[in-house]
Amino acid sequence: MLAEIKDLAENLAPRLIEIRRHLHSHPELSGEEYQTSAYVAGVLSSCGLHVTESVGKTGVMGELSGNNADHRTLAIRTDMDALPIQEITNREFASRNPGVMHACGHDVHTTLGLGTAMVLSQLSEALPGNMRFLFQPAEEIAKGARWMVDEGAMSGVNAIFGVHVFPSIPGKTVGIRYGALTAAADDLEIIIEGESGHGARPHQAIDAIWIASQVITTLQQAISRTQNSLHPVVLTIGEISGGRAPNVIADRVRMLGTVRSLHPDSYASLPNWIENIVTNICDTYGAKCQVNYHRAVPSVQNDAKLTQILESACREAWGNEQVQIINEPSLGAEDFSVYLEKVPGCMFRLGVGIAEQKNYPLHHPRFDVDEAAIVTGVVALAYTAYKYYQAK
Ligand code: NI
Repeated sequence: MLAEIKDLAENLAPRLIEIRRHLHSHPELSGEEYQTSAYVAGVLSSCGLHVTESVGKTGVMGELSGNNADHRTLAIRTDMDALPIQEITNREFASRNPGVMHACGHDVHTTLGLGTAMVLSQLSEALPGNMRFLFQPAEEIAKGARWMVDEGAMSGVNAIFGVHVFPSIPGKTVGIRYGALTAAADDLEIIIEGESGHGARPHQAIDAIWIASQVITTLQQAISRTQNSLHPVVLTIGEISGGRAPNVIADRVRMLGTVRSLHPDSYASLPNWIENIVTNICDTYGAKCQVNYHRAVPSVQNDAKLTQILESACREAWGNEQVQIINEPSLGAEDFSVYLEKVPGCMFRLGVGIAEQKNYPLHHPRFDVDEAAIVTGVVALAYTAYKYYQAK
């Protein structure tokens, strides 16, 4: 089966590169993937999959039946949206939509989903169970997975795999991580209300800016003193506004931030922990406060057994050369975790670093990929899917 998958993927390489370049030159923003999803639906239909469009706004679902020896369904999720970035790669297939760019490699992900569907559709008689391909919109705004799940994309699914390209891993290498891959990312809004007054007489006012500075400083220090150092927490206030004039005490400050954590204990305790600190400081100085803590995306926790299936599939396919175990999790976030609230899953990283040239990071206007990695990604997904049905 491995040899057949490799042959099919190799033969499809020119077509897959063509698909990737088409997607790359026609990027669409989160939630607006109309042309992309129509294109995806067309390719899936042409290889005989049962296609459902508009699953979670612009999401697409493609289903492939196996030979029914196993009644389970394995899902593969790939995301389709681009970013509001002006591309400056000078590639002939660079973005034709001004100010919009596939700078996070979701064009490659979509191609991997399509390529895997193409390969497995030709091997469906040897595939024991069913496959469901989820082409997800709006990953960059962390909404698309929820949209698709809410519309039943996971009903009947037993497990799920996902992939993200990574420029700091050499092209054609698969990065595998056991346990936490990405962090939980929560949204934080803090509003502090004091009392205005003359800048010369602060004792007659309640200075919301000074209290806000106490809140920020205390939160940062308290992480190191009251959170378990072995369970990383990052709290970033990225936006702050308040005050109207240099000589007027500000009566209101609004701060917006992001809170990242990996461990379930931190994840559970952070909302109250933050609220207590903010409330205590504001109480001390007579200000009122509101803390709005919003759960956005949980942590991606890779399932051990599925990760093992992926690892052994990749080692079998390429030996140890093209397999890299990732030792550290990322504090970035990924809404693949929303599917993991329903079933166990595993997300891996596909190296797309180009040899002997500077590789720009994800979300950079010069971000570029080693297209040879597309075949690697398709083989990894297709063979892992096959192995999933072998491992009971
Ligand atoms: Ni991404």
